[in-house]
Amino acid sequence: MKTFSKITDTRDYLQTKRDQGLTVGFVPTMGALHEGHLELMRRAKNENDLLVVSIFVNPIQFNNPEDLLKYPRDVETDKKLLESVNCDILFLPEVEEMYPEEVTKKYEFGNLENVMEGASRPGHFNGVGVVVSKLFDICIPNRAYFGEKDYQQLAIIKKLVSMESIPVEVVPCSIVRENDGLAMSSRNERLTKEERKSAPYIFEVLQEAKENSEFLCANRIKQFVINQFSDREEFDVEYFELADDVDLQPITSLKKDIGTLGFIAVNLGKVRLIDNIRII
Ligand code: PAJ
Repeated sequence: MKTFSKITDTRDYLQTKRDQGLTVGFVPTMGALHEGHLELMRRAKNENDLLVVSIFVNPIQFNNPEDLLKYPRDVETDKKLLESVNCDILFLPEVEEMYPEEVTKKYEFGNLENVMEGASRPGHFNGVGVVVSKLFDICIPNRAYFGEKDYQQLAIIKKLVSMESIPVEVVPCSIVRENDGLAMSSRNERLTKEERKSAPYIFEVLQEAKENSEFLCANRIKQFVINQFSDREEFDVEYFELADDVDLQPITSLKKDIGTLGFIAVNLGKVRLIDNIRII
C-alpha cells in the first residue's frame, strides 16, 4: 500500500494509473476503522482495479468541538486493517494540506439539510460536502462507496454529485452491525461498559417499530418509539423520524409506494449514536 499526504502526489500518481486504463474505487473515511468501513473497502476493491482510501478527520464537519477533540485516532492500527483488505493507496493529509485557507464555500442542499442530522448539527453537511467534493477532485474515482448507516449523508452526496455534475458513481452499502445489532461506529469505542451493554436496545426498538408499522399509523409508531425510551434513563432521544428514502422529508402517513425509513439519534451518556431501519 502506498501512503500519500500531499494532494499533488496523490493526483499525479492516480493520473498515471488512470492513463493505464485502471479504474478507481474510493472510500472516504475519518479513520478509527471497523468492520463497517472494511465492508465498503472489500466491495470497492472487488468492483474496481484500485482501492483508494482516505483518512481525514474533517474539522469543518464537527459542530461540537468536544466531539472533534475526542474523535478516536489510531493511524497505525488503521494501516494494518487497510493492508488486510489489500488497499492500494491511502490518502492521509494534514488539515493544512486540505484547508490552506479559510473555507467559505456554501452549498445549498435544500430541504435535505434542514431535517434530522441537518437540523441537529448546523453546518455539518456543508463541511461534509466541502471535503467530499475536494476528495473527489483529488482522486477522481470511478466509483465511491458510502454506508447507509449515514443515510442522510449518502443522500447529500448524491445531491452534491448531481448539482456539481461530478462524474462518479455513488454506491450505497448496507449497514454493518455487531452481533447484538448495534450499528458499527467509531463512536462506539467511547461507550462505557454499561452503556455498551445498553446500546443494542436502539436497534431492538427500531425493529419493533418496523413490525408495528403493519398495524400502526405513522404518528403512533413515533409515539411508540419515544415511549420505549421514556423509562430508560441512560438514553436521551434527540429525534425519531419517519422520512422518505429520497428527499428525507417527514412522512405523516405510510403508503406502500413511498419508500420510508425510520431514523433515530440518541445520546447514550456522552456519545451521540445514529441508526436507521427501512420500514417500507
Ligand atoms: P466515517 O464516519 O469514518 O465513515 C466512513 C464511511 O463508512 C461512511 O460512508 C459511513 O457511512 C460508512 N460506515 C460507517 N459505519 C458503517 C456501518 N456500520 N455500516 C456501513 N457503513 C458504515 O462518514 C464519514 O466518515 C465522513 O463524514 C466522510 C464521508 C469521510 C467525510 O468526512
